[in-house]
Amino acid sequence: MEGLFNPDAKDLVAGAAGSTYAIPRLGIPSIVVADGPAGLRISPTRKNDNNTYYCTAFPVATLLASTWDTELIGNVGKAMGNEVHEYGVDVLLGPGMNIQRNPLCGRNFEYYSEDPLVTGKIASAMVNGVESEGVGTSIKHYAANNAETNRMALNVIAGTRTLREIYLRGFERVVKHAQPWTVMSSYNLINGTYASQNYDLLTKVLRDDWGFSGMVMTDWFGGKDPVAQVAAGNDLLMPGTPNQTKAILEGVKSGKVTVKDLDRNVTRILNLILQSPKFKGYKYSNKPDLKAHTLVARQAASEGMVLLRNVNSALPLPAEAKKVAAFGNSSYDIITGGTGSGDVNEAYSVSLVEGLQNAGFTINENLNALYSAYLKTAKEGKKKSRGFMMGSEPIAEFTINSDIAGSMANISDVALITIGRNSGEGYDRSPGEGDFQLTAVEKETMKVVADAFHAKGKKVVVILNVGGVIETASWKDIPDAILLSWQAGQESGNSIADILTGKVNPSGKLACTFPVRYEDVPSSKDFPGKVLAVTEVKDKKPENGGMPSFMNPKPAEDVYSEGIYEGYRYYSTFNVPVSYEFGFGMSYTSFEYSNLKLSSPKFSGKMTLTADVRNSGKSEGKEVVELYITAPAKSIDKPAIELKGFAKTRLLKPGETQSVVFEVTKDDLASFIPGISAWKADSGSYTVKLGSSSKEIRLTGSFILASDITVKKESQSLLPQVKINELKP
Ligand code: BGC
Repeated sequence: MEGLFNPDAKDLVAGAAGSTYAIPRLGIPSIVVADGPAGLRISPTRKNDNNTYYCTAFPVATLLASTWDTELIGNVGKAMGNEVHEYGVDVLLGPGMNIQRNPLCGRNFEYYSEDPLVTGKIASAMVNGVESEGVGTSIKHYAANNAETNRMALNVIAGTRTLREIYLRGFERVVKHAQPWTVMSSYNLINGTYASQNYDLLTKVLRDDWGFSGMVMTDWFGGKDPVAQVAAGNDLLMPGTPNQTKAILEGVKSGKVTVKDLDRNVTRILNLILQSPKFKGYKYSNKPDLKAHTLVARQAASEGMVLLRNVNSALPLPAEAKKVAAFGNSSYDIITGGTGSGDVNEAYSVSLVEGLQNAGFTINENLNALYSAYLKTAKEGKKKSRGFMMGSEPIAEFTINSDIAGSMANISDVALITIGRNSGEGYDRSPGEGDFQLTAVEKETMKVVADAFHAKGKKVVVILNVGGVIETASWKDIPDAILLSWQAGQESGNSIADILTGKVNPSGKLACTFPVRYEDVPSSKDFPGKVLAVTEVKDKKPENGGMPSFMNPKPAEDVYSEGIYEGYRYYSTFNVPVSYEFGFGMSYTSFEYSNLKLSSPKFSGKMTLTADVRNSGKSEGKEVVELYITAPAKSIDKPAIELKGFAKTRLLKPGETQSVVFEVTKDDLASFIPGISAWKADSGSYTVKLGSSSKEIRLTGSFILASDITVKKESQSLLPQVKINELKP
């Protein structure tokens, strides 16, 4: 959209999402902002220019969170930030950090987790990494932008506890721990007011309660009333339209916009510009070290893949298993990331079969030829792209019959089957076949391949090349192993091969739950909200006439009736069985936990927990240790468990032990009590649970909090206008 409304922008970075106006007479340059969460998004080529401007496609955010490794995320951020800096961009529009409330949100791949602590910690590491390169970030989309359907006008109706504990908590952590340069307000309304026009959200909560001192920008064309946006503390309207300028100028004349508010917003914009590389005159090279960043992308990808199943140590593949039959379209046409503004223009990507070949495997040529011919014909018959946001139409799986499967089983050592899914901005996923569910052809392929290979005593490995959660319960017992590779960026094939060969021992764990059925998801009844009948809508005017259909607002509302019982908080409290629980992930080795020590049996302001983790298996590996707490439910209901910390060990040799240390603060014990608008920790007995997942608790201990603590009073903000019947245990 560069240059669309800002004539100054056309000579800046091609393909960047936007820029600010320069005021040359005051020496104020135009600064450039560009997407997005999986790497910098700019045009790879330019008119009349033979140079290329490719960026590294890092793994999607969901994979990054599954590493549970803040140091590694910091390195990814540094590499991304370096590309931002060297390509002359000032602010990266990311990370995305909305809560994965429902598996079908089309942009979940841009977000980290269903849990606010994982989200907040991983996003803080990312922000610190990117900003260590001297450029800014824009944490987005603030807040409660958890669905894409009707995203420009969806009213999220949620209780204040739900907002504070789940949907705002990650943003709060990043603001306090990483001080991002900017925050991007979201498209949706919260309790009746657009996020970008919401004084409670942008001033009372963000600045007064949390101390944010940076700048707020809108999401592109977000909100409706520029006057209200100025007053709310939404400093910059992006990408900025002549109508908005007019409305603000008229507002100043009529007194609706105060000069004080304008000055405040302008000051924040200027402060941002003062920090920018552009203002400092940084001479960018247009030559970031893409080679070095490739290694970062490859390592991050293998660290965030999750081994979901591994019967009789099917993986790593034995050294003699060299002949591979690769089934599934995405074995040949790997999905490296999602679509929309979270996509990256990378120079190349490594498919699964290329990665395997690089690692010394032989790919069955007949099967390769069958799939390649099929994909070629299928692609020719489809529109290249279904518009800016959606990418190309998915191609139905090639049908594998028992003859093909049988002949492959005769001549191959192992079968790999990929299941691929893509999604992106502007659209939510479907709960049906071909998206959340497998298609009949996918199921049939898995069955005939497994029958044929198992009849020969050979193994079958499923690789899930997906950006978000899919149904696994009905078929997961068929293959010998399942590797959740996610959408792993441009090095996908190499990173998957690193895991299959055992060069890298998997250490990723789920930062989101895989439910048994979609209907088990607590928000499944409400998501993605209901469109309001015209009579229910006060203002019927379309707000963004002329925009593509996904940008056109259809007033709708979504009531967050599950309250704080989101993800594992719900499944663990209400004893709902899941297919793979939050925090789950296997390794080629095993770990023993011992020696849990609490610094005191009584909590007084702070508590330190330590425990030993020993590699009790035969190969070196890393373990993620998760700290859950069960709190007494005295003044308010509490989930059965809540994640309060996590640690990833270094690479431990067989027999080696590492101590992990957790600090528990009063913040970690407190819940938000709407009646007093404060965080409060109840006196009583707290149980600490160290687990290798949210279900596999290995060590428990307890401590006493002698008297109630009011941890922090907050502003009275974001009150719902209607009574919400929230779920309670
Ligand atoms: C997306 C943002 C993105 C912006 C600029 C919007 O449509 O929601 O995430 O940063 O476009 O490309």
